[in-house]
Amino acid sequence: MNALSQSVPVAVIGVGAMGSGIAQVAATAGHTVWLFDAREGAAAKSRDQIRAVFSRLVEKGRMSPERAIAAGDSLRVASSLTDIAEAGLVVEAIVEDLKAKQQLFAQLEEVVAPTAILATNTSSVSVTAIAAHLSRPERLAGLHFFNPAPLMALVEIVSGLATAEQVAQTLYQTASAWGKKPVYTRSTPGFIVNRVARPFYAEGLRLLEEGVATAPTLDALIREGGGFPMGPFELMDLIGHDVNYAVTCSVFNAYFQDPRFKPSLTQQELVLAGHLGRKAGRGFYQYGPASEPPAAAEQVHQASPSIVIIEGDLGPAHALMETAAEGIAVERRPGSGVLRMEGCTLAMSDGRSATVRSSQESYPDLVLFDLALNYQQPGRLAIAKADQTSDEALKIATGLLQALGWRVSVVDDSPGLVVLRTVAMLANEAADAAMQSVASTDDIDAAMRYGVNYPLGPLEWADRLGVSFLHQVLSNLQQHYQEDRYRPSALMGRLATGGRGFH
Ligand code: NAI
Repeated sequence: MNALSQSVPVAVIGVGAMGSGIAQVAATAGHTVWLFDAREGAAAKSRDQIRAVFSRLVEKGRMSPERAIAAGDSLRVASSLTDIAEAGLVVEAIVEDLKAKQQLFAQLEEVVAPTAILATNTSSVSVTAIAAHLSRPERLAGLHFFNPAPLMALVEIVSGLATAEQVAQTLYQTASAWGKKPVYTRSTPGFIVNRVARPFYAEGLRLLEEGVATAPTLDALIREGGGFPMGPFELMDLIGHDVNYAVTCSVFNAYFQDPRFKPSLTQQELVLAGHLGRKAGRGFYQYGPASEPPAAAEQVHQASPSIVIIEGDLGPAHALMETAAEGIAVERRPGSGVLRMEGCTLAMSDGRSATVRSSQESYPDLVLFDLALNYQQPGRLAIAKADQTSDEALKIATGLLQALGWRVSVVDDSPGLVVLRTVAMLANEAADAAMQSVASTDDIDAAMRYGVNYPLGPLEWADRLGVSFLHQVLSNLQQHYQEDRYRPSALMGRLATGGRGFH
């Protein structure tokens, strides 16, 4: 199927934050765009604001004056729904309410041509349900943009039970022609991004609740070690706790209260207190001119050990010692994948706590380090010691890692530490989404890279680390907590057994 031709008029219904952004994208792509909103004057205001955006883009040299004038002129204010009769695509971005959306589409069916495509920008209402009472439900699909629509590349093309394949394909090609990164998905709670991203917030909140580290330390580790653009707490503050908590509750309830999606009491407290994040001046952090940016915990400088023995293969962390620091003599021996120094055994986390692993493997001086996106590009790394390990061992581990260029944050002993636990749970959710045919593995990875700017797609990350390694990490987490929340995806188990990857 081809993209809709530029000559096909587009209508956007509900021109709040999302509708205005979508209208801007469609007008920039050369369509005539009708704007309609139930609020008096809202459509004209949206048109004027989009024109002002075009003028700013011209000033910045990012749009030619001719294109800005043409795109600005192509915006039309509809004073009633009948004005949009000629639209070949209608994008609905009204209030997030099933009844309101059903009523609107029923009216639209009376107005537009039978060939027109109907699209909803809903994030959480079932696309199948929105289309259920239409006389032509096959022409309705989800066209889910991310906020802000002109800047975020991802668009989820959501098929409900009745959606015709040609309709989804036309929307896919059209989003692509508009400069977006479309992915196909099915109408399931949270679609791809709002489902697969849940553990990013949930594991951060659990780590905080368990006292593993402070919010600024966890944020810094996720950013500077995991390579994510933002940590979970600063991101939740930006999104707004009311919105983020509502999405979590909606996905949790939509999946019949699967413990994997269980909301956090800590976040509920913030919502109840009105500490909604940046917009309220307060969330996990304080905002405003007088507020100091909070500091992450960081180890002071420690002397570097003079000899390190690499025993066996460090697995996913094998690159850690590839650029060994000057003045450190490195020896290699067969073994179980640990670094031995006088007074300290250092190993990458495998999802067991240091305390359990220390007793199971008889290392009296065990310190564990976390997953990093790239062990050859030192950023920040979490370490944790077993209860039976001395404080001195932490200093020795710190000395080595600092000599290799890392900033080191000590966290409390917890299974999977911070980045590994988060990535394992993201990959686990992505694996279940793939297993349930919510989307292809490529589309799941693309959705997380373009929709929430993750440094790698979670399944690509799983392949890089080894699916059997991640499966073991998850099994260890489940063993530790004895909670169904950490059950490894059956698809991950199957691939691990077969020695295969997701791609
Ligand atoms: P908003 O509140 O900024 O805008 C909604 C607009 O729709 C308002 O201007 C309102 O007057 C108008 N409206 C409400 N009922 C209407 C009706 N029956 N007919 C015509 N106009 C009506 O909301 P926002 O954030 O733009 O969200 C719109 C839709 O997009 C929702 O379905 C939301 O779930 C979805 N969405 C929101 C995202 C976000 O980050 N805000 C991201 C992706 C999707």
